[in-house]
Amino acid sequence: PIYHRAHFLLSAPHINVLPDDLGIEVAFAGRSNAGKSSALNTICNQKALARTSKTPGRTQQINVFPIDDTHALVDLPGYGYAKVPEAIKRQWQAALPEYLSEREQLRGVMLIMDVRHPLTEFDWHMLDWCRDLELPLHILLTKADKLKRGPGMATLQKVRSTLRNDYPHVSAQLFSSLKRTGIEEAHAQLDKWFGF
Ligand code: GTP
Ligand code: MG
Repeated sequence: PIYHRAHFLLSAPHINVLPDDLGIEVAFAGRSNAGKSSALNTICNQKALARTSKTPGRTQQINVFPIDDTHALVDLPGYGYAKVPEAIKRQWQAALPEYLSEREQLRGVMLIMDVRHPLTEFDWHMLDWCRDLELPLHILLTKADKLKRGPGMATLQKVRSTLRNDYPHVSAQLFSSLKRTGIEEAHAQLDKWFGF
C-alpha cells in the first residue's frame, strides 16, 4: 500500500506552527509508552520513521509524516507521563483538545492503547472529545503479543461491548508492532479516512 511512502517532514512544538497545507491528516494518539510511534512505523513498514523508546515521553512534539502531497500521518506526544517537565505536560494537555477541535483537515484519530491497560482515564477523555467533535476514532489495542490469543480476544470483546452503547461509531482491533499483526485491518481503516 501507499503507507510505505510516508516520510518525516517536521516536528512542531505547537499546533499554531503546523503547516496548513498537508492535506488530510490522521493522528496517532494515546498514553505515553502505549506504542504510538511503533504502530506508525509498523503501519508504514519502516523501522525508524517515528522515533520510539523504552522510556516513556519520547515524543514531545507533533511529528508530521506526509504520505503524499495531500495525505499525512501525525504522531502526537504521549499523554500522562510523570517525568515530562510539568510545563510541557500542561502545555500539551491544553494543546491536544485544541488540535482536535481546530484542525479542520483532521479526518480521524487512531487511539493507541496497550492491550494490557485499555481505557485509561486519558483514553476516556479522548473518546469524549472525539465524540463531541464527531471525529471518527479507531482503537488499536497494541502489544497484543504480550497476551495469549484467548485473553487478547477477550480484551477486544470487552472494549467493544463497553463502548457499544455510548460510543457506537468507535471501532477497535488488536495490533502488534512486534509480531506485525493487525496491519491490514489498520490499513483498511486509514484507507477509508483518506479516501484511498
Ligand atoms: P511516547 O512517544 O513516549 O508517548 O511513546 P509511544 O506511545 O510512541 O511508544 P513507543 O512506540 O515509543 O513504544 C514504547 C515501548 O513499547 C518501546 O519499548 C517499544 O519497543 C514497545 N512496543 C511498542 N509496540 C509494541 C508491540 O506491539 N509489542 C511489544 N512487545 N512492544 C511494543
Ligand atoms: Mg512516541
